[in-house]
Amino acid sequence: MKFGVPKETQAGERRVAAVPETIRKLSERGAQFVIESGAGLAAAVPDEAYVDAGATVVNDNTAWDADVVLKVRPPTLEEIGRMRSGAIVVSLLTAEATPEIVQALVNQKVTALAMEAIPRIARAQKMDALSAMANIAGYKAVLEAANDFGRYFPLLMTAAGTVTPAHVLVIGAGVAGLSAIATAHRLGAVVRAFDPRPPVREQVESLGAKFIELDLEAIEETAGGYAGTQSDAFLERERELLASHVADVDVIITTAVIPGQDAPVLITEEMIQSMRPGSVIVDLAAERGGNCALTRADEAVEAHGVKILGYTDLPSRMADQSSALYARTMMNLLLQAWDEEGLTIDLTDEIVGAVAVVHAGTDRRSSPTGAAEPETPVESAAGAEA
Ligand code: NAI
Repeated sequence: MKFGVPKETQAGERRVAAVPETIRKLSERGAQFVIESGAGLAAAVPDEAYVDAGATVVNDNTAWDADVVLKVRPPTLEEIGRMRSGAIVVSLLTAEATPEIVQALVNQKVTALAMEAIPRIARAQKMDALSAMANIAGYKAVLEAANDFGRYFPLLMTAAGTVTPAHVLVIGAGVAGLSAIATAHRLGAVVRAFDPRPPVREQVESLGAKFIELDLEAIEETAGGYAGTQSDAFLERERELLASHVADVDVIITTAVIPGQDAPVLITEEMIQSMRPGSVIVDLAAERGGNCALTRADEAVEAHGVKILGYTDLPSRMADQSSALYARTMMNLLLQAWDEEGLTIDLTDEIVGAVAVVHAGTDRRSSPTGAAEPETPVESAAGAEA
């Protein structure tokens, strides 16, 4: 079975979908790899490393001619046109692809496996690309904040005097939030966090942060561990209760999301105005409209002396590590679907059935027995980053 790894073409994307380690492991099962020259360069994987792993490196588009094409970003219309009917493409897909892209996959009669549709079940944890990327995003968000913050994070006793530690607030303690908490704590900041899901408290405290008690009703957790819908009144009350914390900290990392919805606005302009000049907000929910009223996706803006970073490419800013982990989650999915014939799409398998959003020319997203509904509707999320 021939696997192709083309170079990513979306502007600013530095990741690659296969690394020498995953190529070696899949090759042991009989996979043959064709890599487009330069595909791994921005992730610190030179062509020679792919050749050493047994792959063929090509200077043309033949990676698209493979039985299975491995990608980070969804293929473009032109790229889909290069695929053979019956081929398989594996990438981050539904949260990012436009309806035209999905239709083109259908027309080309290919099968598309969406890495972000991996169900959040124990058996699929090692395939969970979104969690792997969110972990990196939380870590990198703190480093970006520390970089733009004009002061130390830790408490220091120096000859020139004592330096007080930075105070960090993390809003939303899912995968990215917990990673941000752990990173800020390791850097020596004093960290507090809030999340409306009750089980989160213990996790926050185990990472050395203070869990903020807000007089708010608890939000039920869905089967996948996500937060359920919240009313306008709930969010209004949350903003009121968070206001004193926002005014009191130096750095805020926001990660609050409710699946399938725009991100709730939790920090208003008035709240930003209450912060000390030089404070930094990193809004990880920027791709979904942002948790902060003044966030602009992919931009760093300054308002009332506060920097607001809306970067949506945080995993790509650590492309070496992100590629290694993304490629591993993808390899684990491929091995899950492997039998003596090679990669086989068995739609009755809980994981494969969930990720196969297009199968042999059929859009399965609306099928009651088919692939999981995309977490974000395709129509509203063009260009989003996972
Ligand atoms: P997650 O679903 O694991 O966590 C989100 C958390 O937000 C949950 O714990 C939920 O309970 C909490 N939440 C929901 N409503 C809230 C509210 N009103 N107040 C406080 N907390 C609330 O999601 P994950 O994987 O941690 O991702 C977080 C965000 O980061 C997502 O928007 C994701 O798309 C984004 N992300 C951004 C990247 C970037 O480069 N900017 C890269 C990767 C992820």
